[in-house]
Amino acid sequence: MTIEHYDAVLELMRQTPGVTVRAADSKQATARYLGRNPGLSFITLDQHEVIACAMCGHDGRRGYLQHVIVLPSYRKRGIASQLVERCLSKLESIGIFKTHIDVFVDNDLANQYWVKHGWVKRNDINRYSFNRSPDVNA
Ligand SMILES: CC(C)(COP(=O)(O)OP(=O)(O)OC[C@H]1O[C@@H](n2cnc3c(N)ncnc32)[C@H](O)[C@@H]1OP(=O)(O)O)[C@@H](O)C(=O)NCCC(=O)NCCS
Repeated sequence: MTIEHYDAVLELMRQTPGVTVRAADSKQATARYLGRNPGLSFITLDQHEVIACAMCGHDGRRGYLQHVIVLPSYRKRGIASQLVERCLSKLESIGIFKTHIDVFVDNDLANQYWVKHGWVKRNDINRYSFNRSPDVNA
């Protein structure tokens, strides 16, 4: 994925229940994210249409996945699994073996997917977030 795919990926996000588009998903922020994490985020194309994406980054220590999305009519064909495998294998190639993803507790489809695919739901960690932006949806 490059910043040229931004509009198509944003559209995919907007169309997908369970995915929230935030200020942090602006074009500028996405360009910064991709620039900090080159070659780690992927899209799937059908002809010229973006039908899936997986954004991935790291902080030098742990990997992070976000926005793993497949257009409904393309689901259950292994597309998400292929995208995730690419992300994890790229992270592994730079020495990062453990990766996290945040999923809303009420996103049943996504929660089922991650558990079924070997991801461990953490009950031993509380995630705390602090927002310095006046925008509650930052
Ligand atoms: C979660 C999500 C990404 C999964 O995408 P997907 O492409 O359908 O995932 P996969 O095809 O890799 O795997 C899904 C299932 O299809 C099955 N499958 C894969 N290839 C298949 C095939 N050729 N025929 C039949 N089933 C197949 C997989 O075994 C898997 O089944 P399981 O979950 O029962 O084990 C997708 O449902 C989605 O976009 N959800 C909304 C977005 C979202 O909420 N994302 C999470 C926020 S990060």
